[in-house]
Amino acid sequence: NKRMNIGLLGFGTVGTGVLQIIQDHQDKLVHQLGCGVDVKKILVSDIEKKRDVNVAPEQLTLDPQEILDDPEIDVVVEVMGGIDDARSYIRHALENNKHVVTANKDLMALHGSELLQLADKQNCDLFYEASVAGGIPILRTLVEGLASDRITKMMGIVNGTTNYILTKMSKEGRMYDEVLKEAQALGYAEADPTADVEGLDAARKISILGTLGFSMNLDLNDVSVKGITDVTSADLHYCDQLGYTMKLVGIANRCGDKVEVSVQPALVPHEHPLASVDDEYNAVYVYGEAVGETMFYGAGAGQLPTATAVVSDLVEVLKNKRLGVNGNSVVIPQFDKKLKTDEE
Ligand code: NAP
Ligand code: HSE
Repeated sequence: NKRMNIGLLGFGTVGTGVLQIIQDHQDKLVHQLGCGVDVKKILVSDIEKKRDVNVAPEQLTLDPQEILDDPEIDVVVEVMGGIDDARSYIRHALENNKHVVTANKDLMALHGSELLQLADKQNCDLFYEASVAGGIPILRTLVEGLASDRITKMMGIVNGTTNYILTKMSKEGRMYDEVLKEAQALGYAEADPTADVEGLDAARKISILGTLGFSMNLDLNDVSVKGITDVTSADLHYCDQLGYTMKLVGIANRCGDKVEVSVQPALVPHEHPLASVDDEYNAVYVYGEAVGETMFYGAGAGQLPTATAVVSDLVEVLKNKRLGVNGNSVVIPQFDKKLKTDEE
């Protein structure tokens, strides 16, 4: 059987994890797909950098076209982050009829609709499970597992970095700056952690959840956002004394054709399940009219949990390819939405 070739755009925390899982789980991939998977080329910005994984020098490139224009590469995996280059490379890949997997919530929250429509037009898959809640398969759960239900509320801890900071500050009495540095070293934070601590990363994720869960395009500008930069150790101590745990919570509520989406530090009663979600872990509560309450929990950031979601998307693309049924990414119709925000 022909082996499948993939190209990786980016080889940092997540990209290294993707290569490691493909190498370590090759038997499982062969079993699922009937053929092996090779990472043919990897785009990096520094070819000399020391890498902690088994990679041949000739696999690395500084030229994205060696991946995007290579007819032998079946799937492009974008794990480099950022908006402009990532958007242009993904468009290029789709225009060349390559399937795409991405972990990039910044890009999908801003330009997901455009990219998914292009994928649809090209009969290609574009999957992005890793973009929300790391290793928790929440996007597939919304569009497949709960496909028959009408979802009216989603609520979650969807940023691992801020949850790690709040946990260590409140449970171990540690300082904000020191714990943020630790979250960066552990690979949880974004390259620039501003979006994590100011709540924008969580806003992007809750807007992706809302878009898929409510089947309507949510505009990021309509999400009311407050992060954790003003939270002090004293705030956390008093919350605890009063029987609450402070968590950065994203909420998306739907009532008829009105939607409210927000991210803010919230006081969660100690006995509530979200209060015990600690460190880099995430949890997403989903309420559907028929199913009632459901909740999903797992590692929300970090190398291998995130890479698991990326490689699972890759398996889905390759299974679809074998069956000849690619081109079934969920494209959200453009509804004439009325969005009610806190300011109104
Ligand atoms: P990272 O560690 O900063 O890695 C980024 C990689 O992309 C680096 O290898 C860098 O090259 C390469 N790169 C960036 N811009 C490039 C450019 N213009 N041209 C060529 N190479 C470029 O980032 P990460 O944590 O792996 O995150 C990657 C993506 O996954 C982001 O979209 C992030 O939001 C998302 N994500 C991350 C996590 C997580 O827990 N870390 C979880 C979910 C989703 P060099 O190696 O040469 O510097
Ligand atoms: N920086 C993100 C977080 C990575 O801390 O949740 C996972 O998306």
